[in-house]
Order: sequence, then C-alpha cells, then structure tokens
Amino acid sequence: MKIQHFLEPRTSTLSYVVHDEADREGIVIDPVIDYDPKAARTSAAPAEAIADYVEREGIQLAYALDTHCHADHLTALPWFEQRFGCKTVIGAGITRVQETFGKLFGFGRGDGFRPDGSQWDVLLGDEDTLSFGSLTLSAIPTGGHTPASLSYRIDDAVFVGDSLFMPDQGTARCDFPGGSASELYDSVQRLYALPAETRLFTLHDYRPGGRDLRWCCTVDEARRTNVHLNEHTTREEFVALRARLEDGKEFPTLLYPAVQWNIRGGHLPPPEPNGQRYFKIPVDAL
Ligand SMILES: [Fe+2]
Repeated sequence: MKIQHFLEPRTSTLSYVVHDEADREGIVIDPVIDYDPKAARTSAAPAEAIADYVEREGIQLAYALDTHCHADHLTALPWFEQRFGCKTVIGAGITRVQETFGKLFGFGRGDGFRPDGSQWDVLLGDEDTLSFGSLTLSAIPTGGHTPASLSYRIDDAVFVGDSLFMPDQGTARCDFPGGSASELYDSVQRLYALPAETRLFTLHDYRPGGRDLRWCCTVDEARRTNVHLNEHTTREEFVALRARLEDGKEFPTLLYPAVQWNIRGGHLPPPEPNGQRYFKIPVDAL
C-alpha cells in the first residue's frame, strides 16, 4: 500500500491518494476545489495536481471519498468522478447535515435539492467496507466535529478527517450545528483503542509555532501527547476545554460557500433567471 499526501495551502487541507502497488487500484480521500472568496472564483488546480500524480503512477481510481461535509473548503468529489469515472463516497449520516443546512440556505425541490444523499454513489454506514485492489477500507464512526463524520481505516492506516489533528494541534472544533465535544471524546476513544503503531493521517495541519508540515502520527504518540485529549483526559475536562476554545472562535472564511457546495455533493446551486449562479449568505443566522 502506498499513501501520498497533497497540501492545499489556502485552507491547510491534506488530501490523500492510497493505492495498491501490485494491481494499481486506488482511492482519493478529501480532495479539494480551491475557492478564492475575494474573486468568488473556483479553481481545480489542487485536484489537477492529484490527478497528475494518479496518471503518472498509472493508478485506476475506484473511489473518491469525503470523511464528512467540510465547512472550510469545497469538495472535488464530482470532479474526480468526471475525470476518472470513480464512484463518490460519504457517510450515510450526511442526510442529517443536508437537512440542517438545506433549511438554513432555503434549498428545496424548486432548486433540485434533495436531502437524501442521492448526490453520492455510495453512502457508508458505521463499519461498512469497500474494496479496491487487494485492500479493504472500513468506516469508523467518528462524529463530533459533524454528526456524520467517518474515519477510513485501511490496514495500519486511518484517515481521521477532522477529529484528531497532530498532537501539538489537538482536536477539531465541535461548534458547528450538529457538532458535539462529548461525541468527539467518544470517537477519539475509539481511535485510541486501535493498536499503538496504527498510523493516523489528519485532514488539516496549521503548523503551530511555524513548525514544518506534519500529517501523520501513531496512535501511541497521539494517546500520550495530544494537547487537548490524551489518555488521561476526562470527558468533562475535554468538553470544558472545547467550550473555552470555541468561545468567540471565528467561523472559517469559506464556511457558507463550502457548505452550500458540499451539501449538494460538490455542485453550485442552479442559475438564477439571469443565468448567473450564486452562493447565499444567511445574515444573523448562526
Ligand atoms: Fe471539517
């Protein structure tokens, strides 16, 4: 199994390509479409960089997966589906996120929006599996950051999405609608119960203190040294810490565009009568 990471610098997002080196079947996890909020312009440059690698390595892409509905960047799942004919995948709990945010944006049947997960080819439930080449991926429920977040385990590697960051960064925020610090605590216990040498691959690294980029640590290192949630941290301590950290915390710059795009499975809302497509901004809502 070979794992390659890709950094999207605007949102410090790490995407991954995992493939079986014997038969060259692979997957892409959490790929990004760039969005410049000042120009209101999308760019497939980060996805192109991944696609170049996939083609160079001669990888047959079987699946493009998101760990959850992202609130800080735009998913590139349909871009990969179109380019490589792979299937798109997300957690089955996405329908809860579509319900909540579909209401917030006033989306409905009139604009073709269905909060039923039909925008993806495969909806994974807890512990569901997918195979590519000789590898098997299993879905570990790791809600908390969003109610529907999954981690994806392949052999000794787990792609944890927004749950644990690198040990000096801590954990993901839990203050979006449907988030829960108590649920994230349980999710992290599930990850900490994995064998000590299991490798955890994170979705973001904000390089605290200006250190070099990191994207992977072992369960052992996380359990011993995570600054928010280690083996000695109680649920009460963690929930209180997250509440302190989230008090007055700014929303991500791309929150509204990202969520609108992502709950539609990676598409813009349909055009207005003038032919132009728009992102909406709900005022005084959150
Ligand atoms: Fe996220």
